Amino acid sequence: MWVFLAIWFTVFAFAPSGYACNGHQSFCARPYSNITQLVTHDSYAVGQKVAATQNLPLIQQLNDGVRGIKLSAVPNHIDPSQMHVCHSMCMVLDAGPAVSVLDEIADWLKDNPNEVVTIMWNNLYDLHADQFEKVYNHSNIMPYIYTHNLSNPTSWPTLQEMIDSGKRVVNFVDSWADTKAVPWLMEHFLHIFETPYQTTNANDFRCVIDRPVGLQNGTGMMYLVNHFLYGVINIGEYRIDIPQRDIALQTNSQSLIDHTEQCIRTFGRPPNFIEVDFYDMGKAMEYLARLNGIPYIAPANVSAEAGPVHAQNLKWPTHMIIDNSSPTLSIPHTLFLSWFLLTSMLLVLF
Ligand SMILES: *[C@@H]1O[C@H](CO)[C@@H](O)[C@H](O)[C@H]1NC(C)=O
Ligand SMILES: *[C@@H]1O[C@H](CO)[C@@H](O)[C@H](O)[C@H]1NC(C)=O
Ligand SMILES: *[C@@H]1O[C@H](CO)[C@@H](O)[C@H](O)[C@H]1NC(C)=O
Ligand SMILES: *[C@@H]1O[C@H](CO)[C@@H](O)[C@H](O)[C@H]1NC(C)=O
Ligand SMILES: *[C@@H]1O[C@H](CO)[C@@H](O)[C@H](O)[C@H]1NC(C)=O
Repeated sequence: MWVFLAIWFTVFAFAPSGYACNGHQSFCARPYSNITQLVTHDSYAVGQKVAATQNLPLIQQLNDGVRGIKLSAVPNHIDPSQMHVCHSMCMVLDAGPAVSVLDEIADWLKDNPNEVVTIMWNNLYDLHADQFEKVYNHSNIMPYIYTHNLSNPTSWPTLQEMIDSGKRVVNFVDSWADTKAVPWLMEHFLHIFETPYQTTNANDFRCVIDRPVGLQNGTGMMYLVNHFLYGVINIGEYRIDIPQRDIALQTNSQSLIDHTEQCIRTFGRPPNFIEVDFYDMGKAMEYLARLNGIPYIAPANVSAEAGPVHAQNLKWPTHMIIDNSSPTLSIPHTLFLSWFLLTSMLLVLF
């Protein structure tokens, strides 16, 4: 496995002098909406197994400079009143109670007072905004939560302003936002549009508005470039998407640069977010530094050779990716799919 450790850490966390915001002084005066940030796809799906989307755990991602985290909120199958971070179904992958994940992030924020972080929730189960609020209320993250001025939606504070106010966690949810009741949990697709996310071939990365569906003109919104590849296994009517670690080095190198440059031409400005799998492989960090106009300092000790994934760091279970866009599955289908996935996982594991 190709592992480039601590690239961003070296570049940003140790800015040589003075005050740094998200690792670099030049970011302090820039509005939140004027920086290209790295987002990890399924940030919690960590491991060496076939189904994981990331090699390194969430906190390591933050240490390495990832500033956007994508989490999936799912009611726990044992106690549905408990929100867990799971992929599609907690029976298949359960990364634990959402409160614990938020607490981990809160601990990191406490240790890193000059960092602004974004959490993007995938809300496959139509959980309501107050269910998110309840979980946040029970975690230690609440004091850090940023509330946007929704009367002035396209105007974002600078990182310095956010850091000074202490409100430096920006939250989006992809459905069921209710900003009248819970103003800080913003509707993702009101503020951010995304390029297609179900790409299976490196030649097919496109720069069109995929979500929100039907949006013709993204002027005034931020945007996110999805740049990761899936392999697809079709089982009857089900499509099972398998992340492509073996080619992640290529996916996250020239392919990422070419795709993003195309989007910059299409949309007339750099993306606000670039979302990848296996962020530690390839040139994502180096390219983001360039896009943000800050120097990239290659870490002193980068091994270009295949090295072991740092298994001792891996706190999160692995999982199978199931097509997110599938309609809610019926119980028999769910049972079948669980059986299938568990069987496949056992085959993969042993
Ligand atoms: C930020 O603003 C500068 C100056 O207007 C511009 O060149 C750059 O492309 C912007 N970056 C993003 C991500 O909006
Ligand atoms: C969360 O806490 C705030 C402040 O104490 C309170 O107003 C709100 O009702 C709580 N929300 C939920 C869903 O418990
Ligand atoms: C929010 O934005 C509106 C419109 O620009 C402005 O009138 C209002 O003062 C702002 N509210 C806060 C709390 O800054
Ligand atoms: C999008 O809308 C903006 C103003 O709202 C306009 O200037 C621009 O030309 C539009 N772009 C396209 C492609 O229609
Ligand atoms: C790079 O780091 C590894 C592990 O920390 C170490 O074993 C190796 O000697 C280092 N290589 C160089 C060239 O510094």
